[in-house]
Amino acid sequence: MRTPVFAANWKMNKTAHEAREFLSKFKTGLSGNSEVVVCPPFTALGVVLDECQSTPIAIGAQNGFHEASGAFTGEVSMAMLHKEGVTHVIVGHSERRDIFGETDGLIQLKISAALQLGLTVIFCVGEHLDVRESGGAMALVESQVRAGLNEIVAAEFGHGASLILAFEPVWAIGTGKVATPEQAQDVHAGIRDVLSALYGADVAERIRILYGGSVKPDNVAGLMEKPDIDGALVGGASLKVEDFLAICQPVY
Ligand code: 13P
Repeated sequence: MRTPVFAANWKMNKTAHEAREFLSKFKTGLSGNSEVVVCPPFTALGVVLDECQSTPIAIGAQNGFHEASGAFTGEVSMAMLHKEGVTHVIVGHSERRDIFGETDGLIQLKISAALQLGLTVIFCVGEHLDVRESGGAMALVESQVRAGLNEIVAAEFGHGASLILAFEPVWAIGTGKVATPEQAQDVHAGIRDVLSALYGADVAERIRILYGGSVKPDNVAGLMEKPDIDGALVGGASLKVEDFLAICQPVY
């Protein structure tokens, strides 16, 4: 039985002050059996870490660089995040791939560095609309999964404990166009098959696979009914306390 995970990806939203306001309300409203992760922008990480002390809310970064330190202007390393008390990091988000040119190779380096430090990686994959329409979604997602996990062995992610996959079809991100539960389930099951081929069925059964792309309070339950959907990575709807509570609150 996999524990559901709901992760808030705030993207480039919320000042430190706004983050504190959000969390002071959110943490008092939170209950349920799911794991909850909040990923604010770097500038709000300190405040969020402070606000979530002694709560079950885990804190994640939206990005991190694989080198520990040095002349990398504008970057924040996985090692620095780990030292500050961050436990999770999103890697391979389509916005990082598309806007900032992150390649599968760089994503592999980031995943590897984060896992070495004991961070839990939320590894995002997903296809653009043209790829879906040409019938190539699963092949593309499989190639992203294999490339990102290239040369990474199961012991590096605690045989499933510290690796979370997130399937985020790019055409569903921020568009209000959610994948149907069936469309998502098909790809999630396919991802689990790839993980099984790489690491064996036992490890694949332990890895949580989240869906992301226009998840809202009114569509999350249908997605969560599917056997291979283990939670959600939520953008827009995670910015409102009531909406994110409604998404992570129920006992799935
Ligand atoms: P939206 O929930 O705003 O579609 O964003 C999804 C996403 O990209 C989460 O990482």
